[in-house]
Amino acid sequence: MRSTPMFSPTQLAARGAYLLRGNDRGAMTSAAPRLYPHQWSWDAAFVSVGLASLSVERATTELDHLLAAQWRNGMIPHIVFANGVDGYFPGPARWRCAQLSADAPSSPDTSGICQPPVHAIAVQRILDRARRRGRTVRGVAESFLDRQWGALMAWHRWLATARDPRERGRITLYHGWESGMDNSPRWDPAYQRVVVGDLPAYRREDNHVVTDTSQRPSDAEYDRYLWLVEQMKRCRYRDGELPGVMAFQMEDVFVSAIMVIACETLAELGEEHAKPRSDVRELRDYAERFRRGVVQTAEARTGSAHDVDVLTGRPVATDTLAVFSPLLTGGLERDAERALLRTFEGPRYCGHPDLRYAVPPSTSPVSGAFRGREYWRGPVWPVMTWLFSWAFARRGWAERAELLREEGLRQASDGSFAEYYEPFTGEPLGSMQQSWTAAAVLDWLG
Ligand code: SER
Repeated sequence: MRSTPMFSPTQLAARGAYLLRGNDRGAMTSAAPRLYPHQWSWDAAFVSVGLASLSVERATTELDHLLAAQWRNGMIPHIVFANGVDGYFPGPARWRCAQLSADAPSSPDTSGICQPPVHAIAVQRILDRARRRGRTVRGVAESFLDRQWGALMAWHRWLATARDPRERGRITLYHGWESGMDNSPRWDPAYQRVVVGDLPAYRREDNHVVTDTSQRPSDAEYDRYLWLVEQMKRCRYRDGELPGVMAFQMEDVFVSAIMVIACETLAELGEEHAKPRSDVRELRDYAERFRRGVVQTAEARTGSAHDVDVLTGRPVATDTLAVFSPLLTGGLERDAERALLRTFEGPRYCGHPDLRYAVPPSTSPVSGAFRGREYWRGPVWPVMTWLFSWAFARRGWAERAELLREEGLRQASDGSFAEYYEPFTGEPLGSMQQSWTAAAVLDWLG
């Protein structure tokens, strides 16, 4: 086992910058060179954070490219396909969004689902960086905010209306991919009830890139993923029809927590940059509603939050990163918050004695559902470490934020910029050269 870092911070920063340059397709950055050759929504947001440490202008271009594919209803699609690039399934021919939906843009091609709304966080980070660079650069960032303010409002408004029509304060997902945590144990009970119907034939591409299939979701899982896409196509991706059709409907507490901090962050930017007061008020109202929705799911004693299965009405409590949602949002009683922090730092998560680095695994290593090499069932995702570090700093927990940053950097010092890592051995897994891993590292080092 290695005992010393392989790359110094300076070398790591240089390699991270080189990686992002290598994955740069002009106006967008592919999420990973081979496994994900297109632009992913939440990847793009994190990538723009990393780009901001290199070039604020290039960072805003990344988000402009993503937002140019925003749907007319306000949804930011989870994939914007790079023109003419093959090698990823399901591609545009499978989604058929432009053909089926009046809301989808006719170009570029996109998928028909969304991903976690981390974009406002990225915008704030870009503006922060720009502020330190002087007037011209600041102007670039501010004119981005002016140009995209309406788009960002429409995105959060769509989430709050189309995805929380009953104002429960939690975002409903119709596909596990919308959580970004595709095969997390959080979704197992819901997927178990998805009966795959007449599914058109398909061929996976991901397993040709990551050839160790134990690192990726199974074929049975893929069948369900693809079946849900067919269900959406049957109702032409119409927001209003999804609740009556979809076999998977989950209120995602973690995405709802991200919604809270995104709305608050955007409201702060709105105040600072003289955006309409009614917009700022609307964002603050959303933040309050979703904070309530997140906190409502928390267990009184432990503070642990859970998802809710809309179709059964039942809570789904799993030992995954989702339990920590209230640490992102605040709003718990003091004792519950302390208890939840103890869980985060204790032996079920970052303080597990055998972890290679003190960063939170996607699923607790002491949970029966834990699989240390399998995508969202256990590995550590550096971008999650970044998100918690950022959110903890925002909550005023500077020491905790710094510890995550330091441990995250120690993990990244192998220079692989892997998509995820085995928590005990530190083995890099999934795609190497993952753009958002480089972005997290660049922001930490910046
Ligand atoms: N993460 C998914 C994939 O593996 C889709 O967003 O393809």
